[in-house]
Amino acid sequence: MELDDIDTVGVVGAGTMGSGIAQVASVAGYRVVMRDVEQRFVDSGFDAIESSLDRVVDRGAVDRATADDARERIEGTTDLDALAGADLVVEAVTEDLDIKQSVFATLAETCSSDAVLATNTSTLSITSIASAVDRPERVVGLHFMNPVPVMAGVEVVVGEHTSEATVDLAHAFAADLDKETWEADDRPGFVVNRVLMPWINEGIRAYDEGVAEKGDVDRGLRLGTNVPMGPLELADHIGLDVVLDASETLHDELGDRYRPAYLLKRKVEAGDLGKKTGVGFYEYD
Ligand code: CAA
Repeated sequence: MELDDIDTVGVVGAGTMGSGIAQVASVAGYRVVMRDVEQRFVDSGFDAIESSLDRVVDRGAVDRATADDARERIEGTTDLDALAGADLVVEAVTEDLDIKQSVFATLAETCSSDAVLATNTSTLSITSIASAVDRPERVVGLHFMNPVPVMAGVEVVVGEHTSEATVDLAHAFAADLDKETWEADDRPGFVVNRVLMPWINEGIRAYDEGVAEKGDVDRGLRLGTNVPMGPLELADHIGLDVVLDASETLHDELGDRYRPAYLLKRKVEAGDLGKKTGVGFYEYD
């Protein structure tokens, strides 16, 4: 399969990442089928897409007609079998290996044998996910960054059996969505989260251990290193549950230097997950 053969893109999961991926694929001209387990999740995915499209129109990145066409090209569904006709699928469900493997096993049964099956996993092994299907050479990591419509890059992750043709197609597809790519081997956290998670956890510890007020930890890193967000505000942006999950996977695989900060665990146990629940390290309206 070549890039030109990709007409329909399937997206599994209509959360923050899935809806963002559906949006950028449809803006690039693909027909998109976006699936989540319940209609209310599909609906909130569409709400996120509509408000994000408004923002890209407001800042002149896309004109109104293109945005309206893009919205029309996305079909919502709760039926995984509705992705049977997809030429490329991006899975963006919760970071749980069993759930991802079961999604991939169903996709391998329903989709054509040369469809590309990509996962947006942030830390799980591409090779483990691919072990659930009969065509691991078609499985690849396409790790988008949040917020998907704004971030310029996508990480292409190469599993043990991913074929060169699949890797090439993953790069070409991402480029067609106007994203730059870099390639990572299938090792815990790939490039971005392997480096980002310890940075975030160290920021949380610096606050928790009284080195500085939380606002000053963030200001210090923003003003001192020119990043757009400090570690605590970035953790709230990503979602503290996602950060904890990624940190725990890295800790399990790579040892003690990746241990999640105690305060991160306590916040997640309290249900304060960041922007999405209205409270994390900071409060949001
Ligand atoms: N859809 C469309 N446009 C959006 C948007 C969205 N969801 N979110 C923000 N924007 C646009 C805004 O409209 C705005 O456009 P203009 O500048 O033209 O007005 C622009 O982006 C900036 O947004 P804001 O003014 O609202 O806020 P900001 O300047 O603070 O930027 C941010 C917000 C883009 C998120 C910026 O703070 C940023 O880049 N932060 C770092 C994000 C980051 O590091 N993401 C990666 C996390 S790691 C990851 O995702 C991988 C993983 O596996 C965990």
